[in-house]
Parts: sequence; C-alpha cells; structure tokens
Amino acid sequence: MKKIKDHYFHKAKKDGYAARSVYKIEEIDKKYRIIRTGNKVLDLGCSPGSWLQYASRKVGNSGQVLGVDLQPVKISLPSHVKVIKADIFEVTDEDLKIKGGQADVILSDMAPKTSGIRTTDAHRSFELNKKVLYLANDILCPEGSLLVKAFQGKLFDELCYEFKKMFADVKLCKPKSSRSESVEIFILGRGKKRTI
Ligand SMILES: C[S@@+](CC[C@H](N)C(=O)[O-])C[C@H]1O[C@@H](n2cnc3c(N)ncnc32)[C@H](O)[C@@H]1O
Repeated sequence: MKKIKDHYFHKAKKDGYAARSVYKIEEIDKKYRIIRTGNKVLDLGCSPGSWLQYASRKVGNSGQVLGVDLQPVKISLPSHVKVIKADIFEVTDEDLKIKGGQADVILSDMAPKTSGIRTTDAHRSFELNKKVLYLANDILCPEGSLLVKAFQGKLFDELCYEFKKMFADVKLCKPKSSRSESVEIFILGRGKKRTI
C-alpha cells in the first residue's frame, strides 16, 4: 500500500500512532460515539494497529479488543488487546468470540490488494464487506454497531441496501483525513436489528 506522507502521516508519527488512518476512526467515533468504555470491539484488517490503539484506549481495561489481519501487528499493545493473524475468509465465529461472546462493535478498515483497475478493486472490497456483514449477523450483538470501509461505485448501493436490512440507522461518512480523490467511504450501521 502506498504511504501518503501528508499532514496526517506526520501527525500520526508525532502522536505515537501506527498509521494515519487513526484520524478516520477518531473523527467518525467523535461524531457518532460508537466505541464506549467496557465495550467488546472486533477490528477486522487491524494491521499496522492504529485503530487497535484508539479502540483499546476508548474501551479501557474493562473492555476487550480483538484484531484480525493477514499481516502481523508489530506494535506493543495493552493486555486487553488480542490479535489473530488470519484471513477473514478462513476464520470461524468461534475464533472471533470476545470474552466468550458477541462483539458490541465491529470495525473494518480492510482494503483488498489493489490491482489499479477500479472495478476489480471495488468488487474485491464488496466481497470483503459482504463477508463482514455475514460475520456480523452472528457475532455482533443486538443493538450493536458496524463500521466498514467501502469503495463508491456500482456495488456500493447494494451494500447500503444490505446495511439497511440489518441496522435501524445507517450513515455514510467521509472523514477529513480520507483523501478527497479517494473513492473510499465508510458505512456505519447502528442498532443491529434482532432478526433480518
Ligand atoms: C488500511 S489497512 C488497515 C489499517 C488499520 N486500520 C490501522 O489503523 O492500522 C487494511 C488492512 O486490511 C487487511 N486485509 C485485507 N484483506 C484481508 C483479509 N481477507 N483478512 C484479513 N485482513 C485483511 C490488510 O492486510 C491490511 O493490513
């Protein structure tokens, strides 16, 4: 993945975060108050670890954060954070249980390996997010929240439609630190319905 050495890159370094993407979750969380003290948070696509740093601070010692990524996480993290190095297409619901139960919040900043072909990349991102929705159906608690990174394009409307079936409230978020030329956009679902 290409590193953008802009204002947010340097700010992340100065603030001790593993990646500039921390300012995306911070902005969205400040606006919508997704992560709360004591929450169980699942962070999909968590490497190099800035969202883990942010979420672990927000949930505090009474909460728990579980991260999953194909890549290792090399930074040191507090003891209430656990990381599994795995492909989300291969993990089981059992692997993703936090403190033996469902998550209050699922975050996914997952991005597929980009091919440079916009439609291919959008399709891969869509497949990742469909998998996240499928997992959320089982491992996100009723009333829970799900935030995913998506690519705008043809399949985006279908993803929004799926979110609206699963959540009482759906918001689209384009944080300031997300480059304006980037097609990425975050979809936030709040208030998971009991049955879909
Ligand atoms: C933009 S980075 C995440 C940055 C992270 N939120 C942070 O703040 O440090 C996207 C991550 O998604 C991961 N990823 C992509 N496909 C995946 C998959 N199938 N299973 C697990 N992780 C995946 C990549 O390995 C990559 O580390």
